[in-house]
Amino acid sequence: MPRIAYVNGRYVPHRDAAVHIEDRGYQFADGVYEVCEVARGVIVDMTRHLDRLDRSLRELEIAWPMSRRTLEIAIHEVIRRNRVSDGLVYLQVTRGVASRDHVFPADAKPAMVITAKRTDRGTLARRWESGVKVITVPENRWERVDIKTIGLLPNVLAKQKAKLAGALEAWFVGADGVVLEGASTNAWIVTKDGVLVTRPADHGILRGVTRTTVFDVARKEGLSIEERGFTVEEALGAREAFITSATTVVMPVVEIDGRVIANGHPGSVSMTLRKAFFDVAEKTPVW
Ligand code: PDD
Repeated sequence: MPRIAYVNGRYVPHRDAAVHIEDRGYQFADGVYEVCEVARGVIVDMTRHLDRLDRSLRELEIAWPMSRRTLEIAIHEVIRRNRVSDGLVYLQVTRGVASRDHVFPADAKPAMVITAKRTDRGTLARRWESGVKVITVPENRWERVDIKTIGLLPNVLAKQKAKLAGALEAWFVGADGVVLEGASTNAWIVTKDGVLVTRPADHGILRGVTRTTVFDVARKEGLSIEERGFTVEEALGAREAFITSATTVVMPVVEIDGRVIANGHPGSVSMTLRKAFFDVAEKTPVW
């Protein structure tokens, strides 16, 4: 079945889908994006993802390319046309096409791309069972990582370094030794007392939608959360560690820089959170 992409108002075969060479996303990474999980035929936490898209666009003074309602319709349509019931939907908005000049163009129209793909739930399930390894890298990103921009070169380099080390994720660590977040996930630990710890999201990290929903899950499960920084040493001495994102949900971390956490197996708290996540998250059935 041919994949279909949405590009600026048209549904086109994925293999032919293209944007202009002077799209500012291509030239300046001048754009924002979202990744939403599709699971069992529903879009997970769409409202929160679109709220964050709205915030990212406002922070960069990029206009909405269409109404929110029209965007929702296009998201459903791309998922439906690609027959994705378990997978991901990707949205990207750039400032549009203009002759190359750093300053904002006066009349560019924001460009919108939507794709959807199936993902291998087997691999995900196996990783949930085994847990994953992370490495640490020094923070080298700009200070506005709270905006979900497509400027991801430090994240790309960190992820590649992780892959070469046999790990799934890289945690950015600040000059003060505090873990910020992963290259594409938020970072958490569970203390010996069973308290969930994750860094505050006011600055320095992306406020993950999965992170926000895990707060709801924790409340329901009667678990307490402390929003504070933690060091790599604290994580190594923790009862559990895990990462959250639309692509991993709640993924146990069993090793940091080659050093094993607890008994090297996923812990019960991250498993409880993952299992309860889908029930608690907002579920929008695909039309
Ligand atoms: N990444 N931190 C960073 C730097 C991220 O890129 C992401 C998401 C997250 C988790 O956010 P959420 O829970 O809303 O997915 C945290 C997406 C999945 C990506 O770039 O593929």
